[in-house]
Amino acid sequence: MTLILGIESSCDETAASVVQDGCVVRSNVIASQHDLHRRYRGVVPEIASRAHLERILPVLQQAMQEARARPGELDAVAVGNRPGLIGSLIVGVSAAKAVAWSLHKPLIGIDHVTAHLYAPTLSNTAYTNALRADTESDAAPAYPALGLVVSGGHTSLYRVQSPTQVQPIGRTIDDAVGEAYDKAAVILGLGYPGGPHVDKTAQQGNPQAVRLPRSLLGKDSLDFSFSGLKTALLYAVRGKPQGRGGNTSFERSAQDLTDAQRADFAAAFQAAAIDTLIIKLSRALDQSIQQGRPAQSLIIGGGVSANSLLRQRVTDLGKDRGLKVCIPAMAYCLDNAAMIAGLAYHHWQAQQFDTLELPAIATSAR
Ligand code: KG4
Ligand code: ZN
Repeated sequence: MTLILGIESSCDETAASVVQDGCVVRSNVIASQHDLHRRYRGVVPEIASRAHLERILPVLQQAMQEARARPGELDAVAVGNRPGLIGSLIVGVSAAKAVAWSLHKPLIGIDHVTAHLYAPTLSNTAYTNALRADTESDAAPAYPALGLVVSGGHTSLYRVQSPTQVQPIGRTIDDAVGEAYDKAAVILGLGYPGGPHVDKTAQQGNPQAVRLPRSLLGKDSLDFSFSGLKTALLYAVRGKPQGRGGNTSFERSAQDLTDAQRADFAAAFQAAAIDTLIIKLSRALDQSIQQGRPAQSLIIGGGVSANSLLRQRVTDLGKDRGLKVCIPAMAYCLDNAAMIAGLAYHHWQAQQFDTLELPAIATSAR
């Protein structure tokens, strides 16, 4: 049995988790900072790093207690060390180094985005079921797979050869889809963080009531663009802007919307955003066939993989194409440390360890 402690602090969640054999989640503690950032309607980096500092030790302690793990039983300490907000990353990386050094355990640095693609493999099934982990988890994708990471900071497509080998094949050229959701929520006067509110409101609306654009870029492009959709929603809700810069005024405000209109706009936005993702996934699948390396399964991960319409449409796409679909359980869509500890198991098996020089890196390694 292999037990790995994972730590995640790349953005606004302070998280720690103990995962057994790469897929059995023994604990998954997440201290969210949403309350601290709500009034700014976005993450304020300085507030985030200070909050990580205050919360990291209690979160670590709770993760060990809930896992009923003694420090000496750990086989390694893993930490998401890239990409993310640098001040936030440094807190998790420093904590991981301190724990690894004091316990004489190997340290493993993990790419946060690659870890999102590992999240579907995780489960908190009772310990007895978990003994299957040594063989092969049912949730494990068939490789090569096509991966889509959709979050507040990332919207990227990957060719996935194994849990640790992922190659980017497309990315957003402007906003991430989660960021577009968060901005749509501001435009519609909905709560923070926006994604779940837009998703819920959209379920009451008619997606055909308004037509919003699907930006597909070039005919073969696997890149994404969501800034046009966001602007189209802004103009549809508030009318044409007059003036420039700080003097811009609009014909209407979000307060003028009836509940039914707000729901229709949310539904139209959601339909356009998710359609765009599905079209790109289909395109990437077609290209993988044309290249003679057909994807065997579809993996999604990241905060927006919690979206009801995306989960449905990816499941349908998998059925149409006869592919296995790997979608994280809701608990592992948003930022968490279980995905860090789970993925680290594969580095542990390959004896790929880092030294105490491990840096925190703001950008993606690729
Ligand atoms: O993965 P995550 O926790 O953090 C990043 O790495 O960015 O993703 C957070 C993002 C936010 O933009 C949030 O609005 C979005 O995921 N999100 C959703 C839903 N739940 C969370 N977007 C659409 N529908 C949802 N149900
Ligand atoms: Zn994330």
